[in-house]
Amino acid sequence: MDYLETVNVEEDLQRGPMRMLVQWVNRPDLDFRGFSGRIVGGALRPGDRVRILPSGKESVVKRIVTKDGDLDVAVAGQSVTVTLADEIDISRGDIIAAADSPPAVADQFEADVIWMNTEPMLPGRPYLLKTGARNIGATITKPKYKVNVNTLEHLAATTLELNDIGVCNLHLDRAIAFDPYEQNRDTGSFILIDRLTNDTVGAGLLHFALRRSQNIHWQAIEVNKQAHASLNGQQPCVVWFTGLSSAGKSTIANLVQSKLHALGRHTYLLDGDNVRHGFNKDLGFTEADRVENIRRVVEVAALMVDAGLIVLASFISPFRAERQMARDLLDKGGFHEVFVDTPLEVAEERDPKGLYKKARHGELINFTGIDSPYEQPENPEFRIDTTTDTPEQAADRIVAHLGATGILEPR
Ligand code: ADX
Repeated sequence: MDYLETVNVEEDLQRGPMRMLVQWVNRPDLDFRGFSGRIVGGALRPGDRVRILPSGKESVVKRIVTKDGDLDVAVAGQSVTVTLADEIDISRGDIIAAADSPPAVADQFEADVIWMNTEPMLPGRPYLLKTGARNIGATITKPKYKVNVNTLEHLAATTLELNDIGVCNLHLDRAIAFDPYEQNRDTGSFILIDRLTNDTVGAGLLHFALRRSQNIHWQAIEVNKQAHASLNGQQPCVVWFTGLSSAGKSTIANLVQSKLHALGRHTYLLDGDNVRHGFNKDLGFTEADRVENIRRVVEVAALMVDAGLIVLASFISPFRAERQMARDLLDKGGFHEVFVDTPLEVAEERDPKGLYKKARHGELINFTGIDSPYEQPENPEFRIDTTTDTPEQAADRIVAHLGATGILEPR
């Protein structure tokens, strides 16, 4: 207690290397280009050499400006505006750091994650990670373990639930400058935000960057997507069918594929039931497994688009977040979402595989529409009402739409 009552936290922070989080860039008029933000580590003086992260550019501090006049020194905890000797592009979210001990830059980390939402953390789901003034897309892997907070025992876990603390790996869409939390509370911590609801769902502390992120580089490939596409005489894209089980997704996707094939187009149909026999046979139907199912399928579809194909994907894909992930990753090549809209009563009436019957009798759990949710698309490119359109009519409409967008022709 004695220690806690007397420890000077600010002093501790000021001993570390200088870090300033840029929150605001002043307009470069009147010969004044200043960068405003909070110093979160060490001390800063005019004449200090600084490095800007993540760009890595260096300069020297010219002035430290506050509303009460210029300072000779600013320390952790203070908010200031600095001007630099060189014209450098700096934006909100960048870090100005001591040039002789800058933070590392990486896009994969091990971290402590504290989950704060009633919906469990789903490995592979895209979240938004906020650290300092930066917002970056992030996914979290299955926890290595979670911690029993009473005994500090490590427990096996596949997900994190409300108030769970676990150690996980994080993958970010972009590299960030960071310090381990042990060295700096501000540049070493983050919060996690749900992309659809904007709720804060978790928080965490960065341990270290995974070394593999530094050792894997993009390999340039000569025969690229464009080369495949022009040989195939088409523009690769993904047509994504979503809807309840027995909605008619696979039937329509099959017909679309046959019609495209007859037109001489190069296609491949990825179908939920088939993919689950091989590639994804390790996955079941919990929310976490469905997220992983779609995550893998999206990656495979992206490879097939790269190979120049028109990819048809037929999956219940019940969650908006994963369909959005598919759209974000595949949009460059064209992403056409087809909502096969069949009311639950109609799908249940059809029930060609007898699965609804089993689910109603409690012999099949987590069944979509019965005891597992389906989140309807809000803005699909296409909505098929299977109670009014026959599969044949639906397929014709989709093929006509694809033709009208020009993707069936060479670019
Ligand atoms: S998804 O939810 O992960 O997108 P996916 O499309 O791959 O599902 O697989 C759905 C198919 O698996 C259904 O067409 C059905 O035949 C079968 N299935 C078996 N169990 C379930 C279940 N609990 N919920 C939904 N579909 C199931």
